[in-house]
Amino acid sequence: MPIKQIITLSNKHGMQIKLSNWGATWLSCILPVDGQNREVLLGCQTFEQYEKQDAYLGATIGRYANRIANATIDIDNRHYPLVANQGVNQLHGGKLGFDKQLWHIQSQSDQQITFTLTSPDGDQGFPGELNVEAIYQLTDDNKVVIKFKATTTKTTPVNLTNHAYFNLDGETSKDILNHSLQVNANLYLPVDSNGIASNDLVCVTQNDMDLRKPRLISDRLLASLDRQITSGYDHAYLLDKNQAIAAQLISSDKKVTMNVTTTKPSLQIYTGNFLQHTPNRNNSEYGNFAGIALESQFLPDSPNHPDWPQPSCFLQPKQIYEHHTAYQFFIN
Ligand code: GAL
Repeated sequence: MPIKQIITLSNKHGMQIKLSNWGATWLSCILPVDGQNREVLLGCQTFEQYEKQDAYLGATIGRYANRIANATIDIDNRHYPLVANQGVNQLHGGKLGFDKQLWHIQSQSDQQITFTLTSPDGDQGFPGELNVEAIYQLTDDNKVVIKFKATTTKTTPVNLTNHAYFNLDGETSKDILNHSLQVNANLYLPVDSNGIASNDLVCVTQNDMDLRKPRLISDRLLASLDRQITSGYDHAYLLDKNQAIAAQLISSDKKVTMNVTTTKPSLQIYTGNFLQHTPNRNNSEYGNFAGIALESQFLPDSPNHPDWPQPSCFLQPKQIYEHHTAYQFFIN
């Protein structure tokens, strides 16, 4: 019987991350700041708590991250009903997504680990057997690189991401409202109260959604109608590929900066609007806005919007899905 394990990777600067084969989950991220260990990732104390929470803390999300409207897709004129798990829609791959699977540890060293998973044909309604690899690497320049690879036996949509929530101020901080955030994107996707696209991509200057210059997360947070609908940021931004980085997050004490780079076309910015009651590591619970997730992905519901300006989210047999995202930390 396979067991849940915790694996620690460390680098020469004293940075340390912890991972688990359960959900190929990123459990912890500790930075040495002013001679102290600062935990910058949200997480629970026990696996039981991880299993109960529904915030997808640090988990690998698949087969399809974010929402698929009405939990249906069409491929080659065939209709596929998927497992719905948020009203009529599917969120983060269905009821038993990759976040709830026990992955196999294929290889492991001091600074890298590879998890693998086989998702059977028909898993959560998706066609084709999908063989997935999730590789986490901690480099000596304080980068956490997450690489995903996949192959399929039938055409299927694939959108793998990691659902880490960051609070760069550390565990004593109650929210990320005074972090500064920059996202290099000219367009974003407006959504309805169910998180489903309510429009086509629009310019970030509309509805006060512009994050192209560093901006405090608290800045007019609930003043824009778009953010009122989702109780904070919970939007996909289409990245400007001409920029060197996708996003930058800076702690409120300015001691920690995190740069995000990715091969994915979009970043879902989610400010933890519904995090309350999620168990934390200290016998207590997180409140709303306790952490921010910067999830690299295809735009939500892409299988039903082939017209959107991004590469196809469908993987064909004989193709290899390969994407990576890096979170790099700078300590002042
Ligand atoms: C995010 C999504 C949010 C929420 C969260 C999980 O990726 O955008 O709306 O569902 O996952 O709690």
